[in-house]
Amino acid sequence: MEDHRYDTSDSWRMLMLMINLVVVLAVLAFMYLSLEDQINDFLNRPKYTQEQLDKLTERGEMAQAKARGDNWNLIENGIHVKTGLKADKDLQLVIGACTSCHSAKLITQNRATRSGWENLIDWMQETQGLPDLGIREPAIVNYLAKHYAPEEVGRRKNIDVAAIKWYILDLDDESE
Ligand code: HEC
Repeated sequence: MEDHRYDTSDSWRMLMLMINLVVVLAVLAFMYLSLEDQINDFLNRPKYTQEQLDKLTERGEMAQAKARGDNWNLIENGIHVKTGLKADKDLQLVIGACTSCHSAKLITQNRATRSGWENLIDWMQETQGLPDLGIREPAIVNYLAKHYAPEEVGRRKNIDVAAIKWYILDLDDESE
């Protein structure tokens, strides 16, 4: 026979369950209250289209490129990023003497022999107001002749006679 006496341990268990429930709810409520701002920010975050995202990253890349370009000392792969000139012990001499009137691009886009560079410097001194370079001149000319020498021109490829499609030139043109 089962004992139908009122069992107090059951109501204790019930009470503990309720207390646990209340504690859990209180913790959740506290977490929600303390994270409310973050949760709302997350739910209301701006939704960008792919196009807008591309724009934003492009702008970020441009800002990065600009920051790199603004860095006067940055040298990447042997190139002084700000001017595009080849990095070298005499780089600062060349920047000081050659970039006040025009962009360093005029240098990086030109090639000349040593005497070519000397003539160019003479020409700028005679006609463009380039001051005498004094004792800096040999180092500057060395730099230019070393890094901006004429590139070797490859020999013309031999003609492949067998591949030529010969045709007969028609000299009796009707328009004559
Ligand atoms: C006082 C100003 C001044 C300084 C400093 C100066 N240049 Fe020039 N340079 C000029 C002018 C002006 C021109 C002509 C620009 C043009 O054609 O647009 C020129 C043109 C050039 C050109 C292009 C020549 C061509 O055939 O088109 C090169 C290369 C050059 N300079 C290199 C140098 C170098 C290397 C130095 C440093 C030794 C230097 N410049 C310093 C004024 C200067």
